[in-house]
Amino acid sequence: MEPRSIRVKEVGPRDGLQNEAVFVDTNDKIAWINQLSSTGLSYIEITSFVHPKWIPALADAVRVAQGIERVPGVTYAALVPNARGLERALAANVDEVSIFLSASEAHNRSNINKTIQETLPVLGETAHDALAAGKSVRGYVSTVFGCPYEGKVPVENVIRVTEALFEMGVSEVSLGDTIGVANPRQVQEVLEVLLGRFEAKRLAMHFHDTRGMAMANVLTSLAMGMTTFDSSIGGLGGCPYAPGASGNLATDDLLYMLDGMGMKTGIDTEKLREAACFIQEKIGRPLPSHNMQVCQA
Ligand code: HMG
Ligand code: MG
Repeated sequence: MEPRSIRVKEVGPRDGLQNEAVFVDTNDKIAWINQLSSTGLSYIEITSFVHPKWIPALADAVRVAQGIERVPGVTYAALVPNARGLERALAANVDEVSIFLSASEAHNRSNINKTIQETLPVLGETAHDALAAGKSVRGYVSTVFGCPYEGKVPVENVIRVTEALFEMGVSEVSLGDTIGVANPRQVQEVLEVLLGRFEAKRLAMHFHDTRGMAMANVLTSLAMGMTTFDSSIGGLGGCPYAPGASGNLATDDLLYMLDGMGMKTGIDTEKLREAACFIQEKIGRPLPSHNMQVCQA
């Protein structure tokens, strides 16, 4: 496979912390995100402006976003479900807003309390207002490769919501394997269909590593021409409204593979490891990534 530049989007401060039982102190979150900003990462999803009762771990979203030091060249993004979330995100001046929905009805309802049909106008309005405020907008599609409630998800459903997101003006759609059920063959089959309709450079892959398949799925995606991957430092993460959704693909493991394959990310492995050790101490449990096992040894 030809070496090329790969964009790694760090989602640990959002997807990672949203599922942790421990509330990480606001100042520690800020210090950690500042560390991440110095690693060479060009994109960090720092928090989410969802309802604090739904995600108590990120109830301090505004203070976190206002407290961090912004490094030029780094995009600071946050998850936003609706107009109220956007109001808070704009008050906190994030660079990019990520809107989200699921390809399966049952997960969408469980996660954001609406049918897909009800969700689309809410997201459309949020995207419109975010763009009008000068923010870029990203879209997430969850349960692309399987739903915890419905099982198999037809690729037509993924196409429908992906098209709807692009029509709202999102610059990129991230395809979520929310509960980590995908396998490389399925990734190939789904991407063959999606890449017939959407450009690779406008899609990102968002794998959870529940069944240890994430890295194999990345490799397949790379072979299919994908260049943007979401990951979470140390393998933190999950979705509390998807039973069985454990951590994301680990940024440190991803980086080890990409570096070894001559793919360029611009991220400093040593600085990333220091940031992983910092958050590991704050959450008080060993992080699951392979590289962190080496770090602990
Ligand atoms: P709802 O209860 O249906 O909201 O929740 P509502 O619109 O009926 O409003 C009820 C009250 O909540 C109102 O207050 C609103 O103002 C307030 P009241 O008038 O009663 O005083 N409210 C808010 N407050 C603060 N911030 C807001 C907000 N919105 C409403 N943004 C809602 C609907 C979407 C808000 C809720 O279901 C929610 O917050 N869900 C988020 C769940 C979540 O964060 N899940 C994890 C992230 S998704 C994920 O992890 C997957 C991903 O990683 C990709 C992958 O892996 O596949 C992205
Ligand atoms: Mg996720």
